[in-house]
Amino acid sequence: MKRTEITELYSKTAELSGKAVTVCGWVRTIRDSKALGFIDLNDGSCFKGVQIVFEANRISNFTEVTKLNVGSALVVTGELVLTPQAKQPFEIHADKIEAEGLSSPDYPLQKKRHSLEFLRTIAHLRPRTNTFSAAFRVRSAAAFAIHKFFHENGFVYVHTPLITGSDCEGAGEMFTVTTLDAENPPRKKDGTVDYSQDFFQKHTSLTVSGQLEAECMAMAFGKVYTFGPTFRAEKSYTQRHAAEFWMIEPEIAFADLQDNMKLAEAMMKYVIKYVMDTCPDDIAFFNQFIDKGLVDRLTNVVNSDFACVTYTEAIEILKKNNDKFEYKVSWGSDLQTEHEKYLTEQVFGKPVFVTDYPKEIKAFYMRLNDDGKTVAAVDLLVPGIGEIIGGSQREERIEILQQRMKEFKLNEENYWWYLDLRRYGGTKHAGYGLGFERLVMYLTGIANIRDVLPFPRTTGTAEF
Ligand code: 4AD
Repeated sequence: MKRTEITELYSKTAELSGKAVTVCGWVRTIRDSKALGFIDLNDGSCFKGVQIVFEANRISNFTEVTKLNVGSALVVTGELVLTPQAKQPFEIHADKIEAEGLSSPDYPLQKKRHSLEFLRTIAHLRPRTNTFSAAFRVRSAAAFAIHKFFHENGFVYVHTPLITGSDCEGAGEMFTVTTLDAENPPRKKDGTVDYSQDFFQKHTSLTVSGQLEAECMAMAFGKVYTFGPTFRAEKSYTQRHAAEFWMIEPEIAFADLQDNMKLAEAMMKYVIKYVMDTCPDDIAFFNQFIDKGLVDRLTNVVNSDFACVTYTEAIEILKKNNDKFEYKVSWGSDLQTEHEKYLTEQVFGKPVFVTDYPKEIKAFYMRLNDDGKTVAAVDLLVPGIGEIIGGSQREERIEILQQRMKEFKLNEENYWWYLDLRRYGGTKHAGYGLGFERLVMYLTGIANIRDVLPFPRTTGTAEF
């Protein structure tokens, strides 16, 4: 059987007109009257479905087909007929309809509009709805665009480990990986868990970032990126935090903070443009039903320069508006979502880089600035989301790095290899992490991270 995807029917309509085609998909709607019936069939290859027309005098199993429930999986062979007068440009006049998988009458996805909250409870079926079908196609296109961008720019794609013995962010928000009995682990005399009997013979966790290992690879390949799953045991019940998410982390040798920002801006624009060009129907759907300003906003981002302020300047702006915020700001405080939104939505109206944060609120590996108070950090904030990228120039001076590790109470023994990079040809270098789900939220206007992850893991949720 030669199967034609529905997307091909749309891209090659003229060529296929009058020809026999076979399409495979799932029934969205089905209705019939007397000797004639209509099925709206979707196969996920594009936003649109195809209308199947079936007639009693043309297919042998007409009565059985009329009894099919929504959600059934069909293989349909028929003629592609142009319908210039109708809403859709063509339909398929079926010669054969085979029900490969029947669906029960209690199929949860009926024609009415379901709430996103309800659809989260059926994550195994929601990819068959318009919203999720579009969201996960955009997700796929964005992932491809990222690889394409980095490969076109000479980056090597590296795979960093998911199980790790070090805490990159030093924030202690890691999931422990162990083969020890969780309820009754062996303990040392001082009462602490004895990991010498564990599979790895030490305490290990799921990675919060591939950065430290990416730095090793950058010191061999010059320009690298990772793109993989990342895990954080943050107890944040927010719309933009997940316990398992994907992160893109480029790392560039012989580069400073400015180079880092240039790369981030070029990447963002490339990915947005690619997705708008390749998923126009999906984006149009989001623009109509999820976020009315989406297309204008994305177009503006591609065509304008990102803004840039230092943290100190940002605090000055925010302080003048402290009465508007639940969390009041002062120099030294971390920016909350409300501040990030205010800066991007009210002050700049576009993506904004915020640089040079106080060293106390950023990670140990960020390069200390000459003022001794701030580090060469950069966050990219975007309207609607807030922080989408976090990055920095890395500390390449070993004494300062060791001092910073002491301040963060990190055990140097766990980072001997990271320190070695500074001993053996360490260069100036920089990188960043882009939260992939936040990017997909930005591309679709979807407000909750649970709706851009096929099977979200958040506090208290690991269903499916
Ligand atoms: O700012 P973060 O913590 O930076 C790092 O992990 C660096 N090591 C990256 C690097 O320089 N290579 O995280 C980077 C981005 C954030 O800006 C955010 O978009 C995303 O990762 N992120 C999350 N996304 C979803 N759920 C969470 N719990 C996230 N935590 C961070």
